[in-house]
Amino acid sequence: MGIIFNEQEKQFHIFNKALSYVIGICQDGDIGQLYFGKPIHTEQKLQDYQSFGIRPLCCNEKDDEKYTKELALLEYPAFGDGDFGSSAYEVLQENGSRVTKFTYQFHRIYKGKAPIPGLPATYTNEDDEAESLEIVCRDLISGLEVTLCYTVWENYSAICRHTKLKNTGDKKLKIEQALSCNVDFPDTSFTWLQFEGAWGRERSPKERDISSGITAIESLRGHSSANYNPFVIIKRKNADDFQGEAFGFNLVYSGNYIAKAQADTFGKLRFNMGINPKWFQWPLEPGEEFHTPEVIITYTSNGLNDLSQNIHRLMNNNLVRSAYKNKPRPILLNNWEATEMDFDEEKILKIARKGKEAGVELFVLDDGWFGKRNDDFAGLGDWYVNTDKLPDGISGLSKKINDLGLKFGLWIEPEMVNEDSDMYRQHPDWVLAAPYRPRTLGRHQMVLDYSKPEVVDNIYNQLHEVISNASIDYIKWDMNRSITECYSQDVDKNQQGMVYHKYIMGVYSLYERLRKAFPHILFESCASGGARFDAGMLYYAPQAWCSDDTDGHERVKIQYGTSYGYPVSMVGSHVSASPNLQTHRTMTIDDRANVAYYGTFGYELDLNEISAEEFDRVKEQIKFMKEYRELFQYGNYYRLQSPFENNISAWMVVSDDKQTAIVTTHKTENIPNWGIERIKLQGLNPDIVYTINDKDDIYGDYLMNAGISLMNKERNWYESDGDYTTHMYILKGKVTK
Ligand code: GLA
Repeated sequence: MGIIFNEQEKQFHIFNKALSYVIGICQDGDIGQLYFGKPIHTEQKLQDYQSFGIRPLCCNEKDDEKYTKELALLEYPAFGDGDFGSSAYEVLQENGSRVTKFTYQFHRIYKGKAPIPGLPATYTNEDDEAESLEIVCRDLISGLEVTLCYTVWENYSAICRHTKLKNTGDKKLKIEQALSCNVDFPDTSFTWLQFEGAWGRERSPKERDISSGITAIESLRGHSSANYNPFVIIKRKNADDFQGEAFGFNLVYSGNYIAKAQADTFGKLRFNMGINPKWFQWPLEPGEEFHTPEVIITYTSNGLNDLSQNIHRLMNNNLVRSAYKNKPRPILLNNWEATEMDFDEEKILKIARKGKEAGVELFVLDDGWFGKRNDDFAGLGDWYVNTDKLPDGISGLSKKINDLGLKFGLWIEPEMVNEDSDMYRQHPDWVLAAPYRPRTLGRHQMVLDYSKPEVVDNIYNQLHEVISNASIDYIKWDMNRSITECYSQDVDKNQQGMVYHKYIMGVYSLYERLRKAFPHILFESCASGGARFDAGMLYYAPQAWCSDDTDGHERVKIQYGTSYGYPVSMVGSHVSASPNLQTHRTMTIDDRANVAYYGTFGYELDLNEISAEEFDRVKEQIKFMKEYRELFQYGNYYRLQSPFENNISAWMVVSDDKQTAIVTTHKTENIPNWGIERIKLQGLNPDIVYTINDKDDIYGDYLMNAGISLMNKERNWYESDGDYTTHMYILKGKVTK
């Protein structure tokens, strides 16, 4: 791993054992992209990629020059200079011009990685895990300084990028667009894979053709959204989970964003990603600087499972900031689907007691414990306990839960306020709202103006009071509506374009303060399920409620789709009641658990309400999860057969030493009289024998090349199981040759 500057050729080679990324200081000091892909030698001159013959209709900076930006591959294209493509940044100057031209000034290569002020970002634990490069460029007329920042990792096929813009001149500037990264590919034979959905069906993979014109996804909801996750894969057309070349782009950001690919008519593909420029304007006074969020760019030449595993490892080791980093997650019991807001202390304790008997480790009290919160019309903003429900307060309840031998966790939704709340009555100017216009509600609530530090301070103080007076080990931080009328009341009109970004910076600052004040707390992020499930949140909250849809069958799809861009350890997954609250589907308690194991695992129902036989199964499940949770949460995860394309889907985890693996299959429909299906496994040791469910002994090479037979020997699986059934195969390595 390293970054080499070839002085003679004016080339930077960023490399590790899995990739090479070459940047050149090209004509006129432009920063050009020379190569991104499998490792290559770089003593050679690659600048030829940037020279072209004179062509009609191309604009060149010098009249007789052959070089034209329109054909060049660029690192951070500007607006208005003959590139004509989708620009990476736009800066308005006092004279009304948006034309800039930055040229190379100097660079810096250093071990480790510098933090990005105010923003979540990957970081090094030890300096020698990564090396970083900053290329400083300047527009000599406006004084705009653009610093392109890169980090390459020793252990992952990944490069992280972000950009810094600084006003080194003496006049005001206004940033109208500042994306995090731009990658120009020399050809367009790729497809685009996005992860889309809506409430209850988040992150379904969807492939789109990108051979011509613009392909994009975005969010303008103020959060990253359930609709389009801020993660995109650009892959070769034939690449699949098991082979082929692909590039992954995870934005480490939770607000409005855009990801865009532009295939031009010269056969070049541009990809860029960052804060959505729509409704974004950031004034930059002389001396001020602006930092974009980071993009984690991953590369594979070995298929999408390899790409995902890289992302999983990088996020677990170098993005998550928590006492629970790389630690097994507590098995929890959450009361939401059991009681919603209709509870009192005795009801809660009864549920918790049963949880303890089953073996759970953490009890989580969900929505309804504060203010006048008896339904979703009131209470948000008033973070003090509702003593009608909990006479001894959160401190009393948490102590009683602790006395049962359980840790205690609490739900909050700190970014919101109800009209019927003391907070709103006192501070109507603390919500985002456009002057003289009605306030659009979502779930009867308004969004607090987190661009104002006094709002964040108030919420911090209220939460600090609750947390420091009770015994709290876990917090579920919810966010249940999108931002509308994004206007900060009584704030200068020239600062309104800053509100979306300042809002999310406010959210990050509150997370940071709480994380620092209570470092032992495990945070779980949530936004009506998975509507803010992104790498930015992961930095503060190592797990995220994956979806409000807890139906086992739907969860197979949601969790499978999620696995492309996020680690299993992030996936909040619970067993809930059957028939399911969201889909009314019925599945056995074992089938529901078999899906939920691939996540943080817990229960979201009243265990007093299930049969004695089911309760016995729950006890067994918890015992099983305690034995295997490290493997589920941190093992090497492989997608085997997609639920989006097959009646039978399958996935697996394998331990690093390849001695243990767990494979799970799920069948949607029980088709009668079907043949015997086999699923080829991945990641095993070909030379050892695996015992499967303590019965059959089969070599790893056979399991990977011929497959595991889904026929159960004792009974005809296809005839005896119904729809929506799962099977789990536990493989244990036996003999080493
Ligand atoms: C959201 C969350 C749920 C639950 C409710 C409480 O919908 O996603 O898990 O916490 O809010 O109101």
